[in-house]
Amino acid sequence: MDMFVVRGGRPLRGRVTVSGAKNAALPIMAAALVANGTTVLRGIPDLVDVTTLSSVLRSLGMNVERKADGALVLTTSDDQRCLADYELVRRMRASVCVLGPLLGRRGRACVSLPGGCNIGHRPIDLHLKGLRALGAQITIDRGYVFARADRLVGADIYLGGSFGSTVTGTCNVLCAAIFAEGVTTISAAACEPEVVDLGRFLNAMGARIEGLGTPHLRIEGGHELNAVEHTIIPDRIEAATLMIAGAMAGGRLQVDGLDPSHLSAVIDALRTMGVGIEITGRTATVVAPERLRSLDITALPYPGIPTDVQAQFTALLSMAEGISVVTDKIFPDRFMHIPELMRMGANVRREGASSIIGGIGTLTGACVMASDLRASAALLLAALAADGESVIRRVYHLDRGYEQLEQKLNQVGADIVRVDDLPETMPVSLQLSDEELRPLAIDSSDSPPPPKFLKRPTKSAPVT
Ligand code: EPZ
Repeated sequence: MDMFVVRGGRPLRGRVTVSGAKNAALPIMAAALVANGTTVLRGIPDLVDVTTLSSVLRSLGMNVERKADGALVLTTSDDQRCLADYELVRRMRASVCVLGPLLGRRGRACVSLPGGCNIGHRPIDLHLKGLRALGAQITIDRGYVFARADRLVGADIYLGGSFGSTVTGTCNVLCAAIFAEGVTTISAAACEPEVVDLGRFLNAMGARIEGLGTPHLRIEGGHELNAVEHTIIPDRIEAATLMIAGAMAGGRLQVDGLDPSHLSAVIDALRTMGVGIEITGRTATVVAPERLRSLDITALPYPGIPTDVQAQFTALLSMAEGISVVTDKIFPDRFMHIPELMRMGANVRREGASSIIGGIGTLTGACVMASDLRASAALLLAALAADGESVIRRVYHLDRGYEQLEQKLNQVGADIVRVDDLPETMPVSLQLSDEELRPLAIDSSDSPPPPKFLKRPTKSAPVT
């Protein structure tokens, strides 16, 4: 299991570039199923989730190839396979994005129900409601969704749920509605930039979708859909994560390649906390303040603060002065990062769908465990800012959604070493010196011999 050894307390100075958006890449790759011919996608990041979805698409008869210039080339065939297998879907719930394209293009789909995950309950009832409204017959049996539609007919669909709109649910219903006879309207559609990017991709193919970026979409179905070339949008979540890294680690960090219009709420929150942010074109220059101010934050549907940066903001606010409250209205159980941040000295406690943070100013290095994609990002940011060394286990979570994050951060002054192939059983503790033990009235001479310590690899030395 990969782990990071991070030497904290080093300011970040220099430039990093944002990669393409994971949450645009996945639904757009799935939507390539609807096109006649060969789709060329540019800006698709090199991520584990992209690799997993490529495997799902190949299992559905698509040819998926990464070119030397980084372009992803997807070629459909008249293959009628329609099974998205559990073994692949369980690795990445976003595989459910093939449901709408398969139903629209091939008239049937058999997709494993996505499992739960560490951020909470992840139902797809709204996806199925929208597809049924278009005329699909849908049953659920043995953990699979069986969907069939000999004919799809336009409908007026309300797609809102008790937690607001659904991002991938809107994507799935869009990809089916473009095949439906007549006009479909979707109310309470997701407005996220990733949904807009998908809609623009489909319109470039020949679809007729209006209202993108608003909660009200109108789709005229039945148009010929031909494969196109498309460059996906930059990853606003990675951009926000990098900006928060700059605010936490100190120094002056330039984040290139972002779309500032996707980050209004994040930029506003950081400025309110006292972080210096200057936007020039597609670059944000982040200057960490001497003192961070506390702030109450609520994760909401776009254009609100994204739930995908809620954990990262919690790590930042643990360094601010005063009390902050972070609430997640989208995933009210998305707080696996809290116990691990507490190991680093953060003064945080959970109250229902909120975390109450008593800023302490500084964090200390510790051994922590990543639990999901964005929680692992929050722990990495905390380790960058912490005094001393940290070990973060199970960083494979990070590899699902961030492209070369440790390389990008090391290029601007961070000290992160990836140590792989260590068994989970390996006792890994940080070297506690006698003077560190003394305040605990523990004299190392009479305490049991410490467990075998992980000798810290130097950045240059290959890890053996
Ligand atoms: C997308 O997930 C993103 N993933 C998530 O990013 C992101 O956190 C989420 O949108 C919210 O912005 C991708 O785009 C691949 P939802 P999605 O359907 O579509 C409830 C990351 O870290 N709901 O918008 O699965 C649901 O439980 C990932 O990159 C229903 O009740 O999220 C949640 O409370 C994590 N019924 C809320 O709606 C449904 O049928 C929003 O979920 C669908 C959703």
